[in-house]
Amino acid sequence: MSAQRKDDHVRLALEQYHAHSGRNQFDEVSFVHHALAGIDRPDVLLGTAFAGIAWEVPVYINAMTGGSVKTGAINRDLAIAARETGVPIASGSMNAYVKDPSCADTFRVLRTENPNGFVMANVNATTSVDHARRAVDLLEANALQIHLNAAQETAMPEGDRSFSSWGPRIEKIAATAGVPVIVKEVGNGLSRRTVLALRNLGVGAADVSGRGGTDFARIENGRRDLADYAFLHGWGQSTAACLLDAQGVGIPVLASGGVRHPLDAARALALGARAVGASAGFLRTLLDGGVAPLIAQITTWRDQLAALQTLLGARTPADLTRCDLLIHGELRSFCADRGIDTRRLAQRSGSTEILHEMTDNTR
Ligand code: FNR
Repeated sequence: MSAQRKDDHVRLALEQYHAHSGRNQFDEVSFVHHALAGIDRPDVLLGTAFAGIAWEVPVYINAMTGGSVKTGAINRDLAIAARETGVPIASGSMNAYVKDPSCADTFRVLRTENPNGFVMANVNATTSVDHARRAVDLLEANALQIHLNAAQETAMPEGDRSFSSWGPRIEKIAATAGVPVIVKEVGNGLSRRTVLALRNLGVGAADVSGRGGTDFARIENGRRDLADYAFLHGWGQSTAACLLDAQGVGIPVLASGGVRHPLDAARALALGARAVGASAGFLRTLLDGGVAPLIAQITTWRDQLAALQTLLGARTPADLTRCDLLIHGELRSFCADRGIDTRRLAQRSGSTEILHEMTDNTR
């Protein structure tokens, strides 16, 4: 049952990816272009740090799969791509492994193929402390992701219907895991209230994983005989909206959900994310073309992100948070209703002061 579900997720996520219109709310975020702000490419660094973690690149392969023969082969290829490009990688949910250790190798391959890489284990929010530790141990994981997926469970025919234990479970795991704990959504987004609650539960970082890419309510609805949960398609907040909502929350925030290309990564970093994850886009490349095109894609993302930082005058990913950003359309309405100051974002580099100074000097 569980192995079949893992195969279904891969198949339906790819069908959805191919059917996707290509537009999402990252399109409502743009940089103010300053033609004299550019810097020299050799001065640009891609490193990022948060929650005691240091990464060479602010891009990671986010949680997807494992638990069946087919998905074990996918994990092997994802691990090779992570090894060859130096990006961190997360496992898919390892609850299948803690229930049935016979599928251990389909997850363990993430470590055996990538012995020196940064690998994250992944469990759900009903996992016991002991099971979470077993998942971390199997991968010799550098960090643990715990996923929140209430909308997915709701649409899933065999899904959970009880969510009240999640907070206390997360708090226990965070206190005992021995590695940094990152709590993530699966494509419906984390609100400011949720991120603040996660901070109080002691987690190291929150990956907002918002709307705009893979939609698990839609995937699970596709697995229902009557497909009668279509009204949940598109549930939640976009990744850009979540990042705006989470400004100043007091714990590091990561971004995933609908990150399509390096410009989306730069937008997410400029909105405060410490790093940016992608799942379905990388999976599509792998399954369409194999591991070589995936390595090429991730290498291109690294190069193009550095090129964008050069254009924007940002020596580090963190410097992107001082670039002026314009927020348009529905995202702007979201900001207005949530009390988020878009004028401050549009003027934060000090560019308007420089403009006023120039006007004064010509008087
Ligand atoms: C996922 N995702 C996911 N997340 C998680 O925490 N545990 C999991 O087991 C899975 N499984 C999974 C399978 C497949 C096939 C996909 C495509 C995704 C969710 C993933 O980590 C991410 O949060 C969302 O997919 C949003 O990112 P993208 O796909 O829009 O880049």
